[in-house]
Amino acid sequence: MSLFGSAIRSDFPALSDELVLLDAPGGTQMPAVVAERIAQTATSAISNRSRGSLPGRNADDAVLEFRAAAADLLGADPAGIVHGRSATQLTFDFSRALAKQWAEGDNIVLSGLDHDCNVAPWLLAAECAGVEVRWARIDPDTSELPVGQYERLVDARTRLVAVGAASNLIGTQPNIAAISAIAHAVGALTYVDGVHYTAHVPVDVRALGADFFIASSYKLFGPHFGMLAAAPELLEQIHPDKLRPSPESVPERFELGTLPYEALAGATAAIDYVASLADEGESRRERIVSAMRAMDEYELELRGVIERGLAELPGVTGYSRAESRTSTLLVTVDGFTPIEVEARLRDSGLIAQAGHFYAIEPCTDLGLGAEGGVRFGLAPYNTLAEAERLVAAMREIVGA
Ligand SMILES: Cc1ncc(COP(=O)(O)O)c(C=O)c1O
Repeated sequence: MSLFGSAIRSDFPALSDELVLLDAPGGTQMPAVVAERIAQTATSAISNRSRGSLPGRNADDAVLEFRAAAADLLGADPAGIVHGRSATQLTFDFSRALAKQWAEGDNIVLSGLDHDCNVAPWLLAAECAGVEVRWARIDPDTSELPVGQYERLVDARTRLVAVGAASNLIGTQPNIAAISAIAHAVGALTYVDGVHYTAHVPVDVRALGADFFIASSYKLFGPHFGMLAAAPELLEQIHPDKLRPSPESVPERFELGTLPYEALAGATAAIDYVASLADEGESRRERIVSAMRAMDEYELELRGVIERGLAELPGVTGYSRAESRTSTLLVTVDGFTPIEVEARLRDSGLIAQAGHFYAIEPCTDLGLGAEGGVRFGLAPYNTLAEAERLVAAMREIVGA
């Protein structure tokens, strides 16, 4: 019997038989244990972080436990985990801080596969610093982000390569380790958007060669905030804008204002929940890796059911074509706008979203424009019956 699907649905109060939720890339539902940990922390004695008093220790423990859990999730150093209100806020903050070190004549390389979170902040920072922006593009026929182009784009004046580890639009997982190797060969830093990737695949930031790696807790069972992982020694070299009396230490110097301790405790609980889904492993890190591997396999199985079903339907075009990719599928249907498909599915009790999902460049390169497509995104609590229900609803829409 699978460890996922029906086996875990009762952990999630939001799930019901009536609604099929197919928008996991927009955020997953929250297990009850996570909400309970948030409530427990919010109603315990809490003050500013210190070791001197119980309320201070409760706050400090929430921060330190979150960093340890996030480090286990990402294969990172707990001392290099930065909390942010969102991955977007972190990227804006880091882009401004890193751009202070750029000079005219430098360049940065952006990816035409990415969510705007890993694009717009760099465009603005590059404009302020007067540095050149270069683009890696996707191949619209294969939906891949070919690595070879980075050899041409990266040179001795490249300061940063910003690239996503998985596309929230079409699921493509570029070869980040190879791109990082090209960047590092000239001394450039890599800023890797792992927001979609982290919800589907075991993450090892060191193996990816990601100097900076962002993720968001709400994409994998947690509350709505983002995190960044980097080596503490690298963080030491960066000087963000901050209040004068706030700590100079790393990672505190990047965490502006008072942290949401109850949300941090919730994120720790979400990571513990992932670890609890493993059927092997001693340490929490080992259990997370094992659970994520199994989740990925499970989701890819459901993806196969949906893809095979849709392939038989006339007028349905799929854009998720890369060899290595998550379970996220983007489609269009001849004769219907994506919004119309979304509405028809909603009428049948299926919640999927239409649009560009802030991934503007790949939508353009795939010939979809601002209208985008309809996205089907899976989480480990989705079931085979739901995948089949989606195929049946799509069959009805196309009249096959
Ligand atoms: C790939 C990707 N990057 C970045 C983001 C932005 O994340 P956040 O909402 O934490 O700013 C998203 C959100 O959907 C995403 O899917």
